[in-house]
Amino acid sequence: MSNLIRFDNVSFSYGSNRVLEGIDLEIREGEFLAVLGYNGSGKSTMAKLINGILLPTEGKVYVDGMDTSDETKLADIRKTAGMVFQNPDNQIVATIVEEDVAFAPENLGIDPAEIRIRVDDAIKAVGLEKHVKDAPHKLSGGQKQRVAIAGVLAMQPRCIILDEPTAMLDPKGRSLVMGVIERLNREKGITIVLITHFMEEAARADRIVILSEGKVAENGSPKEVFSKKERMISLGLEVPPVTDLTLRLIDNGIDLRKDIIKPEELVDALLEIKETTD
Ligand SMILES: Nc1ncnc2c1ncn2[C@@H]1O[C@H](COP(=O)(O)OP(=O)(O)OP(=O)(O)O)[C@@H](O)[C@H]1O
Ligand SMILES: [Mg+2]
Repeated sequence: MSNLIRFDNVSFSYGSNRVLEGIDLEIREGEFLAVLGYNGSGKSTMAKLINGILLPTEGKVYVDGMDTSDETKLADIRKTAGMVFQNPDNQIVATIVEEDVAFAPENLGIDPAEIRIRVDDAIKAVGLEKHVKDAPHKLSGGQKQRVAIAGVLAMQPRCIILDEPTAMLDPKGRSLVMGVIERLNREKGITIVLITHFMEEAARADRIVILSEGKVAENGSPKEVFSKKERMISLGLEVPPVTDLTLRLIDNGIDLRKDIIKPEELVDALLEIKETTD
């Protein structure tokens, strides 16, 4: 896999407040990357550096080889890497779902017949076929967030950066949005950069990067990262709830692997124990 996004010795300051310090990071095409870090560690800043909302104070960010500080490339960069934010209400622009999804490609001057195809595909990809004619403000938070994702998808980006997309959703909305994100990655090969506070969401990624004090503090597979519980705590984070539960079961004498990070892994491991004791 080639690199789609590259941070080359990137530092960023808001005035005198240095938020990122010499970040080197490569994100491969097709990868699902989760970005973690305590409040104020620079995750949103990093997201905004990818699609040129912010420019590095030092260093360079490249998207598909395009330098984000090259103004002539900005439109192409934003077509390549689309953004979804935390609050779905701030991302809805039209009064009917399908019009909202069509908004960005219309602004790009894309042919109406092509827009129709893209909008239908995008709405199908997020599972909102039954709501095409609905008013977005009448939808649930999770449905609105899926409208926002469809709006980005209609631009046919190669990468989607999602900044805490499930933070304002209830558990059902969170789970449906996560399902959409995983499917876009696995089935359509779209590169995903997911910023999240939920460890169980990060557990579903291919790789986790943790920001702390302006630097990349950890960079590895979810199993590698979450196997270091003390380290996670020292970074102001946790392990996924199911990992905590597994560790407690181990403490209580149940013979389980320590590297369980997804609920389905614990279910399988417990079923295996049951079969051998039945
Ligand atoms: N527009 C801004 N002007 C000045 N300082 C800012 C601005 N945006 C963010 N900061 C500061 O930069 C630091 C990093 O902020 P950022 O929003 O990137 O962190 P974050 O990891 O996304 O935090 P959170 O988990 O709360 O979303 C924080 O100290 C924040 O107060
Ligand atoms: Mg943030």
